[in-house]
Amino acid sequence: MKKIKVAVIGVGSISKEHLRSYTNHPEVELYAVCDINEERANRIGTEYGVSKIYYSYQEALTDPEIDAVSICTWNQTHAEISIAALDAGKHVLVEKPLCKTVEEALRIQEAVKRSGKILQVGFVRRYDNNVQMLRTFAEAGEFGEIYYAKASAIRRLGNPGGWFADVERSGGGPLIDIGVHMIDLCWYMMGKPKVKSVSGNTYRKLGNRAHIEHLSFYKAADWDPSLNTVEDLANAIIRFENGASLMVDVSFSLHAKEDEMKVKLYGDKGSYEIDPEIAIVTEKHNTILNITPQMDHKGFHFDSSFQNEINHFVQCVQTGQQPLSPVEDGLEIMKILCAIYESAAKGVEVSL
Ligand SMILES: NC(=O)c1ccc[n+]([C@@H]2O[C@H](COP(=O)([O-])OP(=O)(O)OC[C@H]3O[C@@H](n4cnc5c(N)ncnc54)[C@H](O)[C@@H]3O)[C@@H](O)[C@H]2O)c1
Repeated sequence: MKKIKVAVIGVGSISKEHLRSYTNHPEVELYAVCDINEERANRIGTEYGVSKIYYSYQEALTDPEIDAVSICTWNQTHAEISIAALDAGKHVLVEKPLCKTVEEALRIQEAVKRSGKILQVGFVRRYDNNVQMLRTFAEAGEFGEIYYAKASAIRRLGNPGGWFADVERSGGGPLIDIGVHMIDLCWYMMGKPKVKSVSGNTYRKLGNRAHIEHLSFYKAADWDPSLNTVEDLANAIIRFENGASLMVDVSFSLHAKEDEMKVKLYGDKGSYEIDPEIAIVTEKHNTILNITPQMDHKGFHFDSSFQNEINHFVQCVQTGQQPLSPVEDGLEIMKILCAIYESAAKGVEVSL
């Protein structure tokens, strides 16, 4: 089969996972990189030995050699670059969140329809082996009807700064950055039920805690403590039409004793935990059983999940099969995220 020629647009932090995974794929040629930061584009392009280095995505998209692109740029560019790439006849893997607004998501969906090209949203948590294993159990009815889910991604000190902390470029703080993963993972595992309403709260109480000493944390390359226009904490309850509910809380800054990652889903026959470690809880012969599935990794495994995500994208491009995380799902998640921000701003529950 002819090798697929790929360009990675935006070669900052997360692009490394895309670049590595494409390089590992025997049916892919990592053909080009593109970044508005010329020094970074040159450095990464040279490191990976690509054929072309671009400093403008518009120019890259005119290259007829490119079959598909990964979009790993700041959130506010996702819609514009995705639409331009689809209209240029390229298949698209776009990092999460799909974009910043529901209106943008609808425009991306239209571009997918008119181009007939593949667009896969980078909901990488779906591609984790543990998650797919638990899906098999869920689809076999092991947990019965899932009616309650609960997810937390709490950082006590973890505002990455730079564009992440600039609402104009990011679209929001921990909710749109890490909440998007938590909400998507639960919604997907619940069988993508239709959302009825959301009620959310956002807080800006602690800022980025730039004064904290003796504890290090991840900082974006262009970290600037004076810039922070996003929330520190968001929480929400999401009600579904089938009666199920999801509770979520996420933070960049919080007076928490420690960081916390928890994802738990409860059904009427059993339950399971995805974060921090996989577990299955059920009952048999009047006895509660806590079961530990034996897998390579107890928790979310970054590298293999990205490799699975890229492998799936390549397979969709080769076969025309619809991705596991299609644009429609990106749109639904944008509706939920935007409704949570709206609910928080108005102080009322928002119906969808
Ligand atoms: N799936 C995940 O777990 C995960 C993790 C981290 C980040 N992300 C997402 O990946 C995206 C990038 O995040 P990051 O942490 O790599 O950010 P980053 O700032 O490290 O890298 C982004 C790069 O995009 C470049 N860029 C910005 N606008 C551009 C444009 N118009 N054309 C070309 N290049 C442009 C920047 O110069 C920078 O090099 C974000 O959408 C983020 O939400 C996903």
